[in-house]
Amino acid sequence: MDASKSSPFIGLRAVFLIGFMGSGKTHWGKIWAAVNQLSFVDLDEVIENKAGKSVAAIFDTMGEDHFRELEAAALRTCIDLKNTIVACGGGTPCFYDNMQWMNDHGTTIYITCTFEEIYQRILAEKEKRPLLKKINRAELIFFIEQKLKEREPFYKQAKSMVQSSLLTENSFPGIIAVSTT
Ligand code: S3P
Repeated sequence: MDASKSSPFIGLRAVFLIGFMGSGKTHWGKIWAAVNQLSFVDLDEVIENKAGKSVAAIFDTMGEDHFRELEAAALRTCIDLKNTIVACGGGTPCFYDNMQWMNDHGTTIYITCTFEEIYQRILAEKEKRPLLKKINRAELIFFIEQKLKEREPFYKQAKSMVQSSLLTENSFPGIIAVSTT
């Protein structure tokens, strides 16, 4: 989508949505981009297109470390993006210096969720997620608790934080006003 003509956000640097799996980064990113005449990029899709295989296949055949390298490289292709919302993967801010890089090159928004919200959402699509497909419900609870604890220090470096349950299709201008000041 060419956002340069009609968007009220002319000159806006890339807006990176971060947060745990299931927090709604892709969901809200697509909606806010459409409502505000911005472009939308899903970082997992950038990785998949470049690698010619799905995220799940990359994890299976090459392992997580290799995925994280591809992810860091894909993120850096966003360097010149303007008027674009980028939905990151749940782990993106937590590897290499990705979080610092995003804060240096754009705006970062952390979509926060309660444990219960995350659990319910990712339980429903567990099979699709490489980090989760082999674990049972009890292990899933442990996984979410551990990973949230480990990842929150990175997520909390975001320029603004928004609670997932309060978001609407009209939330974006208010969030951006806070995160770019
Ligand atoms: C991951 C989250 C996924 C994807 C990969 C790893 C993670 O993205 O990047 O499976 O480490 O949390 P979503 O958060 O969009 O599901």
